[in-house]
Amino acid sequence: MSHHFIRFSHVSYTYPSGTKALDDVSFLITHGEKVALLGVNGAGKSTLLLHTNGLLLAQEGEVNVGDVPVTRKTLPLVRQSVGLVFQNPDDQLFMPTVEEDVAFGPANMRLPDAEIGRRVEVALDRVGALDLRRRAPSELSGGQKRRVAIATVLSMEPSILVLDEPTSNLDWKAQAGLMDLLREFDHTCLIATHDLELIREVCRRCLVLDGGRLVADVTPGELLADGALRALLGLGAERQELRVKS
Ligand SMILES: Nc1ncnc2c1ncn2[C@@H]1O[C@H](COP(=O)(O)OP(=O)(O)OP(=O)(O)O)[C@@H](O)[C@H]1O
Ligand SMILES: [Mg+2]
Repeated sequence: MSHHFIRFSHVSYTYPSGTKALDDVSFLITHGEKVALLGVNGAGKSTLLLHTNGLLLAQEGEVNVGDVPVTRKTLPLVRQSVGLVFQNPDDQLFMPTVEEDVAFGPANMRLPDAEIGRRVEVALDRVGALDLRRRAPSELSGGQKRRVAIATVLSMEPSILVLDEPTSNLDWKAQAGLMDLLREFDHTCLIATHDLELIREVCRRCLVLDGGRLVADVTPGELLADGALRALLGLGAERQELRVKS
């Protein structure tokens, strides 16, 4: 894949229960952009993110990662490019130990053992979780699980990083570490979040979902200046944390 962009073209998705979670969503995120995905609970953020690596497949419209359409056939290729960190770390961690979980992706890519070992070390170190490597994921705290879940994706060295509310459960130090990591990440990031500090520190563009529809594609500054968008997101007048950094 020459260009690591994500394109949604008229994507709609309805859950079997009948809830229409995405409704004709179109956007393009180009290489290197760091984009926040906003919307109230139930707006469709997680559903959209699950389409970026084919965990859900568009029922209408098309998702493209680079020049590859996301279909059942292209899933292995797409998943080498797109690293998705789930909203709930328990959905991501299933091996007996932390290091086996972090090694799982690289092992699936059939990398040599030495390279797998190197990646596990680097990824766990990057999230400050090297000391947890021999622990059982099920016995970790919420924030520890979150860090390990992020490491399981970093170890695959994705060119597009997709994170679903990554700062929830993280202590302040871990939040700051994650923001450094995201700032330093050279490639494309799409991040569903309610965290204004994260948006201010990392993102230059915000997509806003409302009832499954994409209703805004703006800079953080524009978002703050827009009374209707603020009201939609429940951002009161006193919430000024989104000041854009100079
Ligand atoms: N597995 C599912 N089966 C049926 N409906 C679902 C399922 N997952 C989500 N939904 C519904 O789809 C809509 C969008 O949900 P989604 O999880 O994408 O929202 P979200 O923006 O990520 O919310 P949150 O901020 O709470 O994480 C909601 O109405 C939700 O109830
Ligand atoms: Mg969600």
